[in-house]
Amino acid sequence: MAFPQSFMDELTARCDIVDVVGSYVQLTRRGSNLFGLCPFHSEKTGSFSVSPDKQIYYCFGCKRGGGVINFIMEEENLPFPDAVRFLAKRAGLEVPEEEGDREAGRRRQRLLELNRDAARFYYRLLQQPEGRAVQDYLDRRQIRKATAVNFGMGASLDAWDVLLNEMTAKGYSKAELLSAGLIVDNKKGGFYDKFRNRLMLPVIDTRGDVVAFGSRVLDKSEPKYMNSSETPVYSKRRVLYGLNLAKKSKRRGIILCEGNLDIVTLHQAGFDNAVASMGTALTPEQIRLLSRFTKELVLCYDNDSAGKIATERALQLLSGSEFSVKVLQLPRRRTAEGELVKQDADDFIKNQGPAAFERLLSGSENGVEFRMAQIAGKYDLESDEQRVAYSGEISALLASLPNEAEREIYAARAAETARITPQAIKIDVEKARKQRLRKEDRAELRKNLNPAAQLQPKDRSLRYENLSSALAEQGVIRLLLLDDGLFSSQPPLKEEDFSSPLLGRIFSLLWRAKEGGQKVTLGALAGALSQDEMNHVASFCQSPESPQNRQKALQDYISNIQKERRSSDKTDPLLAAVEKYKKTNKGEKRNV
Ligand code: UTP
Ligand code: MN
Repeated sequence: MAFPQSFMDELTARCDIVDVVGSYVQLTRRGSNLFGLCPFHSEKTGSFSVSPDKQIYYCFGCKRGGGVINFIMEEENLPFPDAVRFLAKRAGLEVPEEEGDREAGRRRQRLLELNRDAARFYYRLLQQPEGRAVQDYLDRRQIRKATAVNFGMGASLDAWDVLLNEMTAKGYSKAELLSAGLIVDNKKGGFYDKFRNRLMLPVIDTRGDVVAFGSRVLDKSEPKYMNSSETPVYSKRRVLYGLNLAKKSKRRGIILCEGNLDIVTLHQAGFDNAVASMGTALTPEQIRLLSRFTKELVLCYDNDSAGKIATERALQLLSGSEFSVKVLQLPRRRTAEGELVKQDADDFIKNQGPAAFERLLSGSENGVEFRMAQIAGKYDLESDEQRVAYSGEISALLASLPNEAEREIYAARAAETARITPQAIKIDVEKARKQRLRKEDRAELRKNLNPAAQLQPKDRSLRYENLSSALAEQGVIRLLLLDDGLFSSQPPLKEEDFSSPLLGRIFSLLWRAKEGGQKVTLGALAGALSQDEMNHVASFCQSPESPQNRQKALQDYISNIQKERRSSDKTDPLLAAVEKYKKTNKGEKRNV
């Protein structure tokens, strides 16, 4: 997977980090760095910085950072070699591929072709007499032909090997079908189709590739839905069902639902901006994906306790983000027996029609309103005691709103609900707010009183054992990255002189790069460090280093490291041996 160094040098030289990042994030210059809104976490004020001198990015909010290749790996959701290829294409460079890499790329491509062929096969079966059972099911659910075609729906048959035979005849191997998750090993040397007698729902990503399948049984049996397992081309955290269609919608924003068939019904009723997370909680990866297409979301989860928890979680995940978020609450329905039951979007449209859904949509509440209603639902507001409790809980919620006008408006509403004066609520809110601020201050103070803890890497597995040496070691690396005139003919330190194995390794890598006549940049280490390691290095490379007397600064760092090393050598040899034993054992455990 290694690319030739000369190629990597050329690539990093041609892909200036400001250009590349600038095509994803709007950057404004502040001092020697550029700042913008971090693409990796949700924020309203820019804590994402790019340094043209060091060719690195770093977010002070989510503490992620690295060079230009790391940026593409994170932003485009690609492994290292694919990020390199992506950048090469952008820069118009030809990639000198090794046979192994070409092979992996081909395998992915082949898997996508296989999925597409399988989807076509299921699709054809649905149109044929054998697909009658599935067609009847679609009719029962009032899914029209054009809708089924739009979603590429298909039928798997009530048989064990229809797909297996078709696909092997087409030249796909059993190993390929297994890795696509379309057949199952029966452990007795045989294989059978995973999806049988089901409505097939291909999952299509925003590039138009069939990455997986969802499927539904035709009767009441379990499991109701069966989806593809994770494969080299499918990670359920990163895909939303229906987004391939919703991204083309002319409607405002995107509606998020729980179920696949809710999406189908919504699209059929004209709400073609609906997507589903296929039964999993909304993930940060899905939010990033959505942010490419919209900044307005409507959460339309089930009106039961699971749905409410999912809504609350999604609101938390989206709080402080650039998204404006609304919550559409589907009303419960009274059955003929007088029982109140939940309805999902599919039920609602069928019972009440699209116009009623449109009204719900335009009347949907924002996150604060949703939370206030949840709290109000917990209390019996006829009882004085409970009204007091209600006002206490509401005040705590309102105190968390950063905006004064918002606090004022919602306090007035809460006062109405609790039938008390707005002043009374306002006093409670201000009290709760002061308490909250005091708590935040105390936490801040505690943090400031323990600077050593703040200097430790965020990732626990990278923790420093000797902090003062490690800080000097960081300084050495920072300086070498800033000014390659500081490299001398002989390395002034050996890798073992470093108390931190990671920093020692980086030092060696940098020195070897320099000796090999390569450019010494942090970005060039993307292939050699994990993303967690890279985040940490980018973080300490952000700290400023005085432009004057760098040679002297380097010398000071080096003598600190040597001093620390000498004093640690002087420790009790027995203790040191015990420590060493512990460390090796730890190392072994980690390798298991
Ligand atoms: P629901 O059980 O709420 O079903 O699951 P639904 O969407 O209303 O289904 P219909 O109307 O009976 O057809 C919501 C979503 O959770 C996932 C599916 O993506 C489903 O659409 N799910 C559900 C599974 O992945 N597996 C299951 O067994 C059930
Ligand atoms: Mn349903």
